[in-house]
Parts: sequence; C-alpha cells; structure tokens
Amino acid sequence: MLFLFTLVAALLAATLSAQEFPVARAGCQDRCGNVTIPFPFGLTDDCYYDAGFLISCNHTFSPPKAFLTASAINVTEITLEGKLHIEQFIAKDCYNASGQTDNNIPSLTLSKFIISDADNIFVSIGCDTIASLRGNLKEAASNENKYTVGCMSFCDSLKYVPNDTCSGIGCCQTSLAKGVDDFNIAITSLKNHSGILDFSPCSYAFIIEKKKFNFSRSYLRDLKNVDKLPVVIDWSIGKNSCAEVKKSSLYNACQGNSTCYDPDNGDGYLCRCLDGSFMCH
Ligand SMILES: *[C@@H]1O[C@H](CO)[C@@H](O)[C@H](O)[C@H]1NC(C)=O
Ligand SMILES: *[C@@H]1O[C@H](CO)[C@@H](O)[C@H](O)[C@H]1NC(C)=O
Ligand SMILES: *[C@@H]1O[C@H](CO)[C@@H](O)[C@H](O)[C@H]1NC(C)=O
Ligand SMILES: *[C@@H]1O[C@H](CO)[C@@H](O)[C@H](O)[C@H]1NC(C)=O
Ligand SMILES: *[C@@H]1O[C@H](CO)[C@@H](O)[C@H](O)[C@H]1NC(C)=O
Ligand SMILES: *[C@@H]1O[C@H](CO)[C@@H](O)[C@H](O)[C@H]1NC(C)=O
Ligand SMILES: *[C@@H]1O[C@H](CO)[C@@H](O)[C@H](O)[C@H]1NC(C)=O
Ligand SMILES: *[C@@H]1O[C@H](CO)[C@@H](O)[C@H](O)[C@H]1NC(C)=O
Repeated sequence: MLFLFTLVAALLAATLSAQEFPVARAGCQDRCGNVTIPFPFGLTDDCYYDAGFLISCNHTFSPPKAFLTASAINVTEITLEGKLHIEQFIAKDCYNASGQTDNNIPSLTLSKFIISDADNIFVSIGCDTIASLRGNLKEAASNENKYTVGCMSFCDSLKYVPNDTCSGIGCCQTSLAKGVDDFNIAITSLKNHSGILDFSPCSYAFIIEKKKFNFSRSYLRDLKNVDKLPVVIDWSIGKNSCAEVKKSSLYNACQGNSTCYDPDNGDGYLCRCLDGSFMCH
C-alpha cells in the first residue's frame, strides 16, 4: 500500500515537474544536448517565433551542440529573462624569443540580438599590451554606427601585478556600450613582449560575463591555454516596447494569459506566463 502510494506520488511528481515549465511550443523538441530550448527559440520552422530564433542542433557532437541560427556561435544556456549564454574565442597575441608564436583575433557578429552591456565587460591582459574593441551600434545609421574603446597596460615586473584585482597593472577592463551587435578586437604590443617573456608572453583581449571574471596573476601566462570564455547576449522580440506593440497589430507573441514586459537593456519586449513559460499553453 505504502509502496503503491509512493509510486503514485513519484509518478505524479514526475508528471508535475515535467509540466511545470512547458517551455517549447506544443509538439516541439525542447532540448539540444544539455541546453533547454524555450519558445520563442526552436529547432525547426514550426517551433520558433521567427528565423532569428532558430537554434541548430548538431548531433555529430556527443552530447549534441546548440548553435545560434546557422552560425558558429555556441549556445550554452537560454533563459526566459532574455539572456542567451554563448562561448566566444579570446584574442591572443603571443611571443617567444624568436618572435610571434600565436595570433588569433576573433570577431563576433549577431544578426538579431545585442551583447549585454549589463552582464559583460571588455578586458585586456598583458604587460606590453594595447587592445581595442571596435563595436557596431545596432540601431545607429550606417555612417555613424561604429565606436572604438581601448585598454592599455605596460609593466616591467610581475611583483606589482595584484593577484586578485584587475587594477590597471597587467590587466585593464572597461564597460561596454549599449546596443552593440558586432565587434572586432585588435591587439598589439610595442616591444614584442621582449624583456617580460618569462611572466607575460602574450597579450589577450576578450568580452566576458562580468560575474565569471576574477583576475588572477597567473592569467598573464595561463590564458594561453584557454580558447573560449562565456559571454551573455540580450534577446527580445522585435524592436518595439510592450506599450508600443500593444497599440498595434504587431502584438502577437505574448499569447494567452501572459504578461508583456520590457527587457532591462535593448529594444523589443518579452513575455512571462504564470506557469513560467514564455507563451501560455
Ligand atoms: C555539425 O558539425 C560538424 C563538425 O563541426 C560539421 O562538419 C557539420 O557540417 C555540422 N552539421 C550541421 C548540420 O551543421
Ligand atoms: C552542458 O555541458 C557542457 C559540457 O558537457 C558544460 O560545459 C555546460 O556548462 C553544460 N551546460 C548546461 C546548461 O548545463
Ligand atoms: C563551437 O563549437 C564547435 C564545435 O564543438 C567548436 O569547434 C568551436 O570551437 C566552438 N566555438 C566556440 C567559440 O566555442
Ligand atoms: C618559438 O616558437 C616557435 C613556434 O612555436 C618555435 O618553433 C621556436 O623554436 C620558439 N623559439 C624559442 C626561442 O623558443
Ligand atoms: C593568486 O590567486 C590564485 C587564485 O585565487 C591562487 O591560486 C594563487 O595561489 C595566488 N597566487 C599568489 C602568488 O598569491
Ligand atoms: C617585433 O617582431 C616583428 C616580427 O615579428 C619585427 O618586425 C619587429 O621589429 C619586432 N619589434 C620589436 C620592437 O622587437
Ligand atoms: C570570484 O571571486 C568571488 C569572491 O572571491 C567568488 O565569490 C566567486 O565565486 C569567484 N568567481 C569565479 C567565477 O571564480
Ligand atoms: C488569467 O489569469 C488570471 C489570474 O489567474 C485570471 O483571473 C484570468 O481570468 C485569466 N485570464 C484568462 C484570459 O485566462
């Protein structure tokens, strides 16, 4: 009796928890590997809100890997609060006594979303380092949409590089502008790191999720072995706020008994249903 009761309770709990967050559109797959794919994102035409929300799930990887639309942007998590967690390569410029050994300069282009200015920072690391980030402002006219911000650090000794803070000695950080949808990073050195090769053989620059970044002195050497770091993207539907779309016929995403709300950053709107999903089922 007790066993049966436990079994029924367990089954009921399983059913309830499975239904607690019915995140995908009915009949749609809601996972790719270990990434949950909530509506408005989807793996096929009939499952996403529009093509910008297509996630391609590549099953040649084990577990399968999620990519944003048809790009090479790896998605690690999607939240219904309008955040997309991705992985992005870091820029590196490395030297040894015979010259340059590694020079990798990535860029990122988002067709639809923007890089979260609230969640990320731009960081450069190195003791012979000039790094810059050239960003594209999504909403600006094409002749005034570029801006550049930079970071510079030079140091002669590891001794004065603090171990736990990005102070300006060996590490420099700055905030991002709002509304950036693509960027390029450039890094150069003045002296090919000569004289400091033992403790700072490379310059690095990257955008990183602020709360996942704790500077450590060892990064001057060890980031050489790190390829990618976490970045947060802001997503939302369309360009108009809730107030604007509610007045127009564009208001077609928040369906059923859901609440429309404006994202903290960027344009567009988000929906929230009482059951925790984006669109009520
Ligand atoms: C999946 O990834 C593999 C390895 O990177 C690649 O060769 C293949 O084209 C990808 N498949 C799809 C459907 O994108
Ligand atoms: C998915 O798995 C990968 C490696 O297996 C891990 O790095 C990543 O953090 C996981 N993502 C989530 C959302 O759990
Ligand atoms: C994305 O995933 C592919 C396949 O695993 C990998 O080759 C690539 O390096 C990853 N890119 C980033 C930026 O992590
Ligand atoms: C510098 O690096 C290159 C490529 O990795 C290597 O071939 C060369 O021997 C290195 N030189 C010294 C002095 O370590
Ligand atoms: C610097 O900090 C790292 C991580 O907190 C720690 O592992 C390391 O021992 C510290 N190094 C020094 C020289 O204090
Ligand atoms: C740095 O290295 C480049 C080639 O890798 C060389 O042309 C340049 O003269 C070097 N500069 C200095 C200051 O050593
Ligand atoms: C960074 O340091 C803080 C305080 O020491 C710690 O709470 C946090 O977990 C660290 N974060 C990472 C990603 O290491
Ligand atoms: C939406 O939910 C509220 C609170 O649960 C309820 O009062 C209302 O009748 C619902 N409206 C619709 C259209 O289902």
